[in-house]
Amino acid sequence: MTPGAERDGAFVRVAAVGDIHLSPDCRGLLRPSFETLPLCADVLLLAGDLTRHGTVPEAEVVAEEVRDLGVPVVAVLGNHDYHSEREADVTRVLTDAGVTVLEGDRVVLPVAGRKVGVAGAKGFCGGFAGRSAGEFGEREMKDFVRTARRGAESLHRALADMSADGCAARIALTHFAPVPDTLAGEPVEIYPFLGSYLLAEAIDEAGADLAVHGHAHLGTEHGMTAGGVRVRNVAQPVIGRAFALYHLPLAAS
Ligand SMILES: [Fe+2]
Ligand SMILES: [Fe+2]
Repeated sequence: MTPGAERDGAFVRVAAVGDIHLSPDCRGLLRPSFETLPLCADVLLLAGDLTRHGTVPEAEVVAEEVRDLGVPVVAVLGNHDYHSEREADVTRVLTDAGVTVLEGDRVVLPVAGRKVGVAGAKGFCGGFAGRSAGEFGEREMKDFVRTARRGAESLHRALADMSADGCAARIALTHFAPVPDTLAGEPVEIYPFLGSYLLAEAIDEAGADLAVHGHAHLGTEHGMTAGGVRVRNVAQPVIGRAFALYHLPLAAS
């Protein structure tokens, strides 16, 4: 919510999960739980790694799990969804099932007569402040760090654009982690491959009310950016259920 904005008791109910890693042998696994969403949530966020290897048959399983749920479904892809280099096809299969797939973009949803914005980007790794890769030296290294920087810049643009949309709540959706807090439980040696501080900088600079990510299967659900934005790791092995549910207050219109 915009700093200083008035609240009047209205809120948005956000369901979120990532890292469901579906494949044809788990068809129908999540559908019974997802079918309860209209009773408890206004939107379902999918935080990437929806498939095991990013194949079209796997994406088709995901599509059937979330088709016609009765709540909007907004997703980003994860690194697993890129593995077969069919990410465009994975996106198309999900989009055909009614999922809004974001990559450096935003969607504005009507909730309780207000606007709720979701800005999404997969993001990338590179590490956290003081222990991060630098855009220096070999071309391969610079390309690596530029990938992280461009992902964060696209998230920043999408969040900033939502300010102009007049959203009563703004959510940042990524696959990679913006902060190390939600990595607690992972080996510290692999933190640089689990997220990037550039994502948190984008979130804090552009503003958001909630940041949701996945990717860190052994991490921790709760964290916060330096700017005070709540961060939630919704990787399914972390939350231990079909989806997590968060209530966000809406700014008065
Ligand atoms: Fe994963
Ligand atoms: Fe991942």
